[in-house]
Amino acid sequence: MDNSKKEQIYQRVSKEILSVLAGQDNQTARMATINCLLSQAFPTFYWTGFYLVDPLKTDELVVGPYQGTLGCLRIPFGRGVCGVAAAKAETQVVEDVHVFSNHIACDVNSNSEIVVPVIDKSGALIAVFDVDSTKPASFNEVDKRHLEALMSAVFSNQD
Ligand code: SME
Repeated sequence: MDNSKKEQIYQRVSKEILSVLAGQDNQTARMATINCLLSQAFPTFYWTGFYLVDPLKTDELVVGPYQGTLGCLRIPFGRGVCGVAAAKAETQVVEDVHVFSNHIACDVNSNSEIVVPVIDKSGALIAVFDVDSTKPASFNEVDKRHLEALMSAVFSNQD
């Protein structure tokens, strides 16, 4: 998909997500709605979901709401693309998961991946948002910019 098509879809679906979620402060409802609308909007989103910082074990992520095939249940900080994104609190864009030294293969069909940290209003990391594609190099700066803006609009500016 070319970048201008991507831009158009992100603009439309981000608006839709913010409008559906207006006044909804439940975190599970917010995450489930984001997964649904984004994965419906982009055919490349093979696995779309959240890994939450476990409040009982804060150096570990535990799977949260997602759409797709069975995901790993737990990921320690620093392991896999999700664990690195959580440990660094920085978005990871991985064009080829097979050359990412730390990659955790939950599904053999996954070839590229983007993971965006999710920060709450207080500035704390609460989760990471993970999207996997079966195609190589599906994600780039356009996905990074829009997904970071969406996570910030939904979780950092929440009333
Ligand atoms: N591949 C991820 C693990 C999560 S799944 O893809 C759903 C990673 O390396 O963090």
